[in-house]
Amino acid sequence: MQTSRLFDALPDAFHGDPHTGDPVDPRWHDIAEHVSGFTSPNELAVLNLAAAVLPADEAYLEVGTFKGRSLVAAVQDNADKTFYAMENFVEFGMAGQEAHAELKDNLKRFAGETDVHLLEGDAFTLMAKPGLIDRPVGVYFYDGEHTLLSHYLALAVVEPLLADEALVLVDDATWPVVQRAHRLFLKRHPGWRIEATWDAERADDPRWANGLHALVFRRVPGRRRGMSRTDEALRGYQTTVQDRVNKVAWAAAHRFPGPVKKAASVLLSRSRAIGGDDH
Ligand SMILES: C[S@@+](CC[C@H](N)C(=O)[O-])C[C@H]1O[C@@H](n2cnc3c(N)ncnc32)[C@H](O)[C@@H]1O
Repeated sequence: MQTSRLFDALPDAFHGDPHTGDPVDPRWHDIAEHVSGFTSPNELAVLNLAAAVLPADEAYLEVGTFKGRSLVAAVQDNADKTFYAMENFVEFGMAGQEAHAELKDNLKRFAGETDVHLLEGDAFTLMAKPGLIDRPVGVYFYDGEHTLLSHYLALAVVEPLLADEALVLVDDATWPVVQRAHRLFLKRHPGWRIEATWDAERADDPRWANGLHALVFRRVPGRRRGMSRTDEALRGYQTTVQDRVNKVAWAAAHRFPGPVKKAASVLLSRSRAIGGDDH
């Protein structure tokens, strides 16, 4: 997609500077109020605009849907677009059935007839399955697990799926761990740049939650489409060893009181302090 269309359209979507102003459309505050979740109204405005400027022959892909807040916002007035959403129902000790039912209900209430393909499972496994997404991904929103490796892989695994020009939006990007992953990734992968950063002034900032960064990918002509052997090995580690550690840690964090819960929480909350040092 022509990614400049998003940045050209932004001034009309916000009262003043998006960093400090509210979205013009009140729906994003309403959705944040009525659909449980973590994304903030300003983020929802950007996601919706990204979907609006996406051409119909490309897909919108979201990783980390939870109960559907970000997805519900993206689909508004965009029923002519194709949406894919990946969710493994692991985090927050979600009782799978309960979260799943709430997501389905929110999609029914707020997404209407929009073409939403909900893909359940681990995104790093799903994204590597050939043919799962029927068209190039023009907009990708990553709001899944937040470790250094997962944020690195969030870009590495999606790259082969992206359109020759694509917009990549990453949530919680004010966290040092996310920015470090982006630095590591961009150093090793040509064609990427960080185009805009809407940072949070504090944790769970009412406008930008924990920050949203917009990256633009332009495929380098002649470059092979596919992951490097190193990235493939990292993906292998994430989808076998790390995935199991995460499941056990999230379950422990929510089931056990005292020291086990504390240890699990430490393991799961690496480098998230806004203004903290992760370098
Ligand atoms: C912060 S929540 C997403 C919030 C949501 N976008 C919103 O607007 O409220 C992160 C979600 O990512 C999911 N997740 C984490 N790692 C994942 C993975 N590897 N594959 C699929 N989903 C994952 C978690 O289960 C959790 O529901």
